[in-house]
Amino acid sequence: MKKYQDAVKYIKNIIIDTTPKIGIVLGSGLGLMTEKIEDKIVIPYSSIPNFPISTVDGHDGNLIIGTIGNNSVIAMQGRFHFYEGYSMEEVTFPIRVMKLLGVEYLFVSNAAGGLNPEYKVGDLMIIEDHINFFPGNPLRGKNEDSFGPRFPDMSKTYCPKLINKALEIGRHENIKLKKGIYIGSSGPTLETPAEYKLFRLFGADATGMSTIPEIIVAHHCGISCFGISVITNESAIPFSGSTSTIEEVKTNAAAAEPKLTTILLNLIEQI
Ligand code: HPA
Repeated sequence: MKKYQDAVKYIKNIIIDTTPKIGIVLGSGLGLMTEKIEDKIVIPYSSIPNFPISTVDGHDGNLIIGTIGNNSVIAMQGRFHFYEGYSMEEVTFPIRVMKLLGVEYLFVSNAAGGLNPEYKVGDLMIIEDHINFFPGNPLRGKNEDSFGPRFPDMSKTYCPKLINKALEIGRHENIKLKKGIYIGSSGPTLETPAEYKLFRLFGADATGMSTIPEIIVAHHCGISCFGISVITNESAIPFSGSTSTIEEVKTNAAAAEPKLTTILLNLIEQI
């Protein structure tokens, strides 16, 4: 708790009386949203006590505090992935800092491989539920009761109201949205054909290497969560000989980003 509090104290000294209501964590190649934040205050991760530092290519490491519409937001420019070697506690450290700063809603995006054969590259999938296939859980260990219960209910992890609102926005903006199940695993390897097949048998629609740790910790401490995946590669046909590369993931994420930004901006403005 002291570690979180020291980080919070440092940030509060900079943002003074701003209370961010909405936390934003953006996926690889999906950072455009941060340009839409007004009256920005930028705080490098490296300056914040106890904050991990982002190492992956193409990710800057800053907290950005500002406004979108009438709402005060705090966005992570660069997230921490488990595959980079961070512990679950480090990956989710910023989420608890956000909670202590006053955040009530968390919006998370990610790049994901499509498992559902109906999904095409560039599709957006609202995360309706998830399967935690990471080799761990961020809540393992002594429970911090002031954040939430030992055994959190996970039956409505992704806020149904936010999901419905996003679907409404999609209809209004003429942006097609899928709704499905995200399975998250450690990475950094992309899935073998046999793993894709297994994930599909599990009932998952998309697969990635992030989001689940942050969502578990946010949900545990009572933050309303919304997650959305950009389908950056199709993984639906195991043993077809098709391959997925990280270059493909990056290019396709950038192409779908404007649609994603429209959905998230509208959703945040309507809170
Ligand atoms: N697998 C895992 N993570 C990913 C993928 C994938 O196919 N695409 C983007 N992130």
